[in-house]
Amino acid sequence: MPSFSLLTAAIAASMISGSSASIQNPEIMPTPPMGFNDWSRLECAINQSVFTDTADAMVSKGLLAAGYNRVNIDDCWMADTRTEEGKLTWNETLFPKGLPWLGQYLKEKGFHFGIYEDAGNETCGGYPGSYGYEEVDAQTFASWGIDYLKVDGCHVTPTTEVEYHKRYAAWHDAFSKMEDPLIFSQSAPAYFSLWLTGSDNLTDWYTVMDWVPYNGELARHSADVLVYVGVEGLSGWDSVMQNYNYNTQLARYQRPGYFNDPDFLIVDNLELTLTEKKSHFALWASFSAPLIISAWIPDLPEDVISYLKNSDLIKVDQDPLAQQATLVSRDDSFDVLTRSLANGDRLVTVLNRGNDTASTTVSALRLGLQATESIYSAKDLWTGEAINFKGELKINKLASHATAVYRISLSGLQSLTVFPTGMIFNAASTNCLTAGARNQEVKFTTCAGTDDQVWQIRPLTGTISPLSARNLCLTAEGGRTVLKECRLIDFAQDWEYSVRGYLTNKWTHECITEDSGSSSSKCLYEVDSQVWSLPAGVKVHW
Ligand SMILES: *[C@@H]1O[C@H](CO)[C@@H](O)[C@H](O)[C@H]1NC(C)=O
Ligand SMILES: *[C@@H]1O[C@H](CO)[C@@H](O)[C@H](O)[C@H]1NC(C)=O
Ligand SMILES: *[C@@H]1O[C@H](CO)[C@@H](O)[C@H](O)[C@H]1NC(C)=O
Ligand SMILES: *[C@@H]1O[C@H](CO)[C@@H](O)[C@H](O)[C@H]1NC(C)=O
Ligand SMILES: *[C@@H]1O[C@H](CO)[C@@H](O)[C@H](O)[C@H]1NC(C)=O
Repeated sequence: MPSFSLLTAAIAASMISGSSASIQNPEIMPTPPMGFNDWSRLECAINQSVFTDTADAMVSKGLLAAGYNRVNIDDCWMADTRTEEGKLTWNETLFPKGLPWLGQYLKEKGFHFGIYEDAGNETCGGYPGSYGYEEVDAQTFASWGIDYLKVDGCHVTPTTEVEYHKRYAAWHDAFSKMEDPLIFSQSAPAYFSLWLTGSDNLTDWYTVMDWVPYNGELARHSADVLVYVGVEGLSGWDSVMQNYNYNTQLARYQRPGYFNDPDFLIVDNLELTLTEKKSHFALWASFSAPLIISAWIPDLPEDVISYLKNSDLIKVDQDPLAQQATLVSRDDSFDVLTRSLANGDRLVTVLNRGNDTASTTVSALRLGLQATESIYSAKDLWTGEAINFKGELKINKLASHATAVYRISLSGLQSLTVFPTGMIFNAASTNCLTAGARNQEVKFTTCAGTDDQVWQIRPLTGTISPLSARNLCLTAEGGRTVLKECRLIDFAQDWEYSVRGYLTNKWTHECITEDSGSSSSKCLYEVDSQVWSLPAGVKVHW
């Protein structure tokens, strides 16, 4: 009975692949991980007591109780060679009691245990890689009490997207055969980012991003954050801003079960001021990014411990909706970001990128709130202070590099509509989609925070209007995207956003294109000019 066995095989295959496919099985990691990793602080200078002392300090300083429940080892933990049976083993000088012992130690304290390997023949530090040993190594890690694996991408040859896909899929397959698959942190996209390739052709980066959400639970999409000893020519703040910027380009991929990872919180890095560290934390929490501390925790001062334990911001980070805050606007000084939370509340995060203390206002409309006459109540998530505002939220005297965060309660308001609102921008060019006048073609210009660059996306009709003229809608005309009077039902004004970043018109099936010749053209495969970052909450077609 061939059909029967085929069917059985198909069901078995779907069950197997379902068991560890992140976004198809979000229970593996519904909210982003929190914890510790040694890399940015110590690089290869690790040993057993680093991890036991860190775990002890995380308990005594209240970090475990605040949710930081993972202790992850990065590179350089291994012996030079595999055992005679082909298994990985630890450096016995560094870990005299062994990793299973350490796993047990961590478990008894209430931590999960994580580790590092590499998809190639060697790790970045030159230790045995996992190429061809994925299944064996996954079993070994599980037997040591490990439930989280970061897989780096050094020494993968050839360095093509196809080869990385094969290597990372091998891990996915190994995990899919396990009853309790490990959480899989994938460094593959970083190897195709502008940071590493220096190429402004982002097609391969986007292609890798397209598969990581099906393959594992998180992905390191770009640069390593600054290590403690520093890097010539890169300031601490520039490093944080670099990773922050990459993350803003990728919000469409994030959903429960899969998280974009802009790398560690470097909370004792001497290059950052306390204000900058707090911004780093608030921005990562607004993104629902992993909160993994890389610092010498036993010596962290109380002011740092205190902001790391901010329960309002941790609640935002761990919100079950897992929405990533996106840019409403960006001008010379301020970035404004917003997102929704699972209970319907709205978050607003304002970063002063400028060099001077400054004030700004953000209108309710810019936050996606349509009831402009309502009085909104909000909580300052730094001070806990409750405030009310009508029409616009005022941010007074925000210090250089500081971040303000407010949670706006919408529970008391009747029949409230929230429209995804914000910038539509191109990651490759960094330009903003900019409205022209009525009947004129759109433009692609430097983001400046003006109302002709803040777009309102209406979920029911699929129409898109700039705040500068909400009666005008983006309209496709073969080869052009223009602004016209909004009409009731017109497919030429109906747009669909896909996880690949395309903004496609329902009538012409063309994609919005940043090109000197035409603002709309046939959709091509992941070309820079057709990949757009849109506001959080827009329906993403997968
Ligand atoms: C373990 O590593 C830490 C950090 O590098 C170092 O300060 C300490 O001396 C090491 N301990 C041992 C026993 O080697
Ligand atoms: C193991 O650690 C010791 C102590 O740091 C070091 O001297 C030795 O080279 C390490 N072995 C390997 C294989 O890295
Ligand atoms: C990695 O190992 C595989 C299998 O042994 C081998 O085919 C390949 O050439 C190696 N690659 C490098 C860069 O050493
Ligand atoms: C960009 O990269 C992709 C994938 O490597 C390649 O197919 C395409 O030809 C490149 N585009 C340009 C304009 O070089
Ligand atoms: C802030 O100061 C830095 C360093 O002096 C400078 O490079 C940067 O352009 C300034 N930024 C703004 C927005 O003025």
